[in-house]
Amino acid sequence: MDNIALIGFSGTGKSQVARAVADILGWTPVDTDAEIVRRAGTPIARIFQTQGEAAFRRLEREAVQEACAGKGSVIATGGGAIMDPASLSAMTANGFLVCLEARPETIYRRLTENKRENDQAPGLADAEERPLLGGPDPLARIQALKAQRQPTYALAHWTVHTDSLSIADVAQEVVRALRAFAARGDTPQNPFNVSPELAATVETSAGSCPLLVGWGLLPRLGELLLQAGVKGPVYVVTDDRVASLYLSTARHSLLGAGIEAHTFTFPMGEQSKTLATATRLYEWLASLKARRADTLVALGGGVAGDLTGFVAATYNRGIGFVQIPTSLAAMVDASIGGKTAVDLPAGKNLVGAFYQPRLVIADVSALRTLPQRETMEGWAEAIKHGLILDADLFRTFEEQAEQVLALEPGLTTEVIKRSMAIKAKVVSEDERETRGVRVLLNYGHTIGHGLEAATEYGRFLHGEAVAIGMMGAARIGVALGVTPPSALERQEEVLRRFRLPLSCPDVNLELVAAAMSLDKKAVGSSLRWVLLQEVGRSTTRGDVPMDLALEVLQGLAG
Ligand SMILES: NC(=O)c1ccc[n+]([C@@H]2O[C@H](COP(=O)([O-])OP(=O)(O)OC[C@H]3O[C@@H](n4cnc5c(N)ncnc54)[C@H](O)[C@@H]3O)[C@@H](O)[C@H]2O)c1
Ligand SMILES: [Zn+2]
Repeated sequence: MDNIALIGFSGTGKSQVARAVADILGWTPVDTDAEIVRRAGTPIARIFQTQGEAAFRRLEREAVQEACAGKGSVIATGGGAIMDPASLSAMTANGFLVCLEARPETIYRRLTENKRENDQAPGLADAEERPLLGGPDPLARIQALKAQRQPTYALAHWTVHTDSLSIADVAQEVVRALRAFAARGDTPQNPFNVSPELAATVETSAGSCPLLVGWGLLPRLGELLLQAGVKGPVYVVTDDRVASLYLSTARHSLLGAGIEAHTFTFPMGEQSKTLATATRLYEWLASLKARRADTLVALGGGVAGDLTGFVAATYNRGIGFVQIPTSLAAMVDASIGGKTAVDLPAGKNLVGAFYQPRLVIADVSALRTLPQRETMEGWAEAIKHGLILDADLFRTFEEQAEQVLALEPGLTTEVIKRSMAIKAKVVSEDERETRGVRVLLNYGHTIGHGLEAATEYGRFLHGEAVAIGMMGAARIGVALGVTPPSALERQEEVLRRFRLPLSCPDVNLELVAAAMSLDKKAVGSSLRWVLLQEVGRSTTRGDVPMDLALEVLQGLAG
């Protein structure tokens, strides 16, 4: 722990506390906002006005990185610094991260008092102070912005509630925490006993959602929720199998943290992902008088996540939502991206909503109890992430397959983190699938969905159908000269190592083609195929000849 970084909202006293802490320890105080003003030779408000927020965050990132590169600094950051992933990772790399907390009312009072002083000495106001106080309802604005950042503030190793403390008290508290950590021999670099790793943050119009990943996080659920500002009551929704394995750990942790928790269990499997179950959930929530500020927690696979998310989106027009994925498919795919839905007899996921969770917590150790077939189908999606966008991730699957298959904790956590980060990046760039980025996640899904539908969702697990679909897409890519044959071979080898199917003998090809709209009626309707340009790079094509697609399907079935 070479440095201390103070994070938290404007008005929590970071600059003054940094100076006081540095005094006690004999370290150097660094105020990144002051540093930026010094370097730019112009007040922060002007940088915002003339160059925009992105330019300011760049300057801030440089200041943070520089301060973190040395040793013995106590760094006070601007309230929004943590929203820049590069700044955040610089602070956590070798620093003790402390969040200074205060209630919105306290913040408002302090900022109004500060403003009077700052008006006499303009230039050094915190970057966001003036815009915050300038609007019609400053307190509401503070509350909203703070709520949006809370999950990221929760990543701090320590939090000090400053409402009724003096600057000197807060500084003492920071020093005491630092010493306690040092005495325990914990270092922030040790994600398994200090801080869960932040895989990525999903940035959407609804705010930002941190993805926390680690081995053994479930027993710490209560603490993690409190850190994220979720105080309860919470309503945990899970299926009966996951309940028998993990519900008591989750409940124990919640109760231990003083969080009021209620639980709802439904029969496992896709057949529960219906409006009927959703209705039972609505009635249960209403009977407990659940309010908007309360939180629904999905504990389980994609079924629990999709169903609970849909109910969270609609009950009371939207209530708090946290995802705790326990299946591999839910960790690397379903829990990220805000797609929630239930099925109708007429089709899967026909009724749904985009609704982002506030936080995702993935305890990788839960995979030890996931049945083998479900584990392998989950790997299919993770391998897909490597194929379409991350050649290094794919190489890990090639070179360290045995360790991953054995669920070696460090490596498995790393691989899942990386895979979740890919999905997070894609979703952040294209939240509603309108910019042609999110569609890349559909690699292997054109044929995969066709196979699932043609076999009435009974023969293949989703990931298995996707594996076969990826083989089809790769062959189409090779035939069109888009995909190098070596990429096809590498893909095939990895899918084989992960015991995924590569073909679909005896499948009714007519049904598959019909499900894919690959029939005469569909001439002119353009299927968009995702194709590999190489391992780690992909593109879409709307001009794949129908005959070629049918021929490739025949090859898969034959
Ligand atoms: N929202 C999205 O973006 C998205 C993406 C992909 C899939 N999905 C949806 O997700 C669902 C499929 O996800 P899934 O495969 O997780 O289904 P699931 O929730 O049914 O889980 C599969 C099985 O694994 C069990 N299970 C889960 N975690 C376990 C653990 N740690 N140990 C032992 N057993 C465990 C469950 O009880 C269940 O029987 C589908 O409904 C699909 O539509 C949604
Ligand atoms: Zn999928």
